[in-house]
Amino acid sequence: KEAKLWGGRFKEGVTDAVERFTESISFDKQLYKQDIKGSRAHASMLAHQGLISASDRDSILEGLEEIERRIENGEFNWRADREDVHMNIEAALTDMIGEPAKKLHTARSRNDQVLTDFRLWCRDAIDGILVSMKQLQVSLLTLALRNEGLIVPGYTHLQRAQPVLLQHLLLAYVEEIERDAGRLVDCRARMNFCPLGACALAGTGLPIDRFMTSEALGFTAPLRNSIDAVSDRDFVLEFLSANAITAVHLSRLGEEWVLWASEEFGFITPSDSVSTGSSIMPQKKNPDPMELVRGKSARVIGDLVTLLTLCKGLPHAYNRDLQEDKEPVFDSVKTILGMLEVSAEFALNISFNRERIQKALPAGHLDATTLADYLVNKGVPFRTSHDIAGKSVALCTLKNCQLLDLSLDELRSINPVFEEDVYDFLGVENAIQKFVSYGSTGSACVASQIDYWMKKLEMK
Ligand code: ARG
Repeated sequence: KEAKLWGGRFKEGVTDAVERFTESISFDKQLYKQDIKGSRAHASMLAHQGLISASDRDSILEGLEEIERRIENGEFNWRADREDVHMNIEAALTDMIGEPAKKLHTARSRNDQVLTDFRLWCRDAIDGILVSMKQLQVSLLTLALRNEGLIVPGYTHLQRAQPVLLQHLLLAYVEEIERDAGRLVDCRARMNFCPLGACALAGTGLPIDRFMTSEALGFTAPLRNSIDAVSDRDFVLEFLSANAITAVHLSRLGEEWVLWASEEFGFITPSDSVSTGSSIMPQKKNPDPMELVRGKSARVIGDLVTLLTLCKGLPHAYNRDLQEDKEPVFDSVKTILGMLEVSAEFALNISFNRERIQKALPAGHLDATTLADYLVNKGVPFRTSHDIAGKSVALCTLKNCQLLDLSLDELRSINPVFEEDVYDFLGVENAIQKFVSYGSTGSACVASQIDYWMKKLEMK
């Protein structure tokens, strides 16, 4: 068995069970690119500070280049007995270039190294998620543009409430995703500080330049406190929280579309390309992708809870427990990317069943609140208007008709304030025209929202 890089004080090696249990190479090899990037910056800084020679630096840089090439070509032998990505790469470098490689870990610990890698990885991951978020927004807006003018029932308590333009609802999702993206951008800015050079926890007596490595790696600045630098995981907690919120948004979207695809609603028909069938029931066509978007949100929430639980009892500074921080993050990122991608595809592959929706619109007295607003315009206090409109709805229930079917006499029997112009306010088509407040579902307001997003998403 090969001696461990940390093996100086040890008289015997670890048992196989311990080796299997403590390794992280099976998952942290995903950090190889960031690890090599960090080592490049570190080696260049060491040479600049006179801690290693220029020729040692050059052999290190060449060796790292070759290692990266081998990893990318699948020629690199990842070894569990070398524990993690950091020691795999360092040991392979030593195998390759000998003595100079042994100088690379000067003024560095795996504790600051792993966090440098991880912050760089998360930063890249955020950039990727932001791209997918924008794609989903574009898809939702595309769906909105295809369905201009379509009125759908708006719900509260999942009971029919007021009519809304479908575009208005679709833009509500777009707004949510915009804030999700904003949270990631904020999180990225707070995350973008460099732990490298914090070493194990206390910094070093060697004359390193942390500002140089920080800058070379594109960080805003080195982290101010070396203990904080190797202890902190709030940057991942924040990242996973942001992902969890996004997942909840997508899950709600998924739930809505699953519901809408049901026979009972029948508002949308997903195309075959985003549907799956049943192994026993020949007639079935199920909206599985959106069910799984709803389902996979559980993982993303779970990943956050795992990390919160992992961190809550840890004394400062580094603890090996923290090796467990990576898999939930990898899982969260992979899952959220899949959810965003499939939601975007689904959006582009559903059609709204206009006729069916229109036929269903008269049910539920969606215009009752507009009727109350009509009475307010006539000078009736809102509480009284609410009561009069409520009594009108009650009469409709009795007669099994809609508000617009009530005659003027019938309305006046409830309250004499009604005039002929009341019929301009009744029926969903009329009612929707009456919305004028900023942010409302009125056509003009929705048109200006569409315009705003078309520009923002560079769709025109
Ligand atoms: N694989 C370790 C991790 O992911 C790297 C840091 C190990 N440090 C240590 N002192 N054992 O956390």
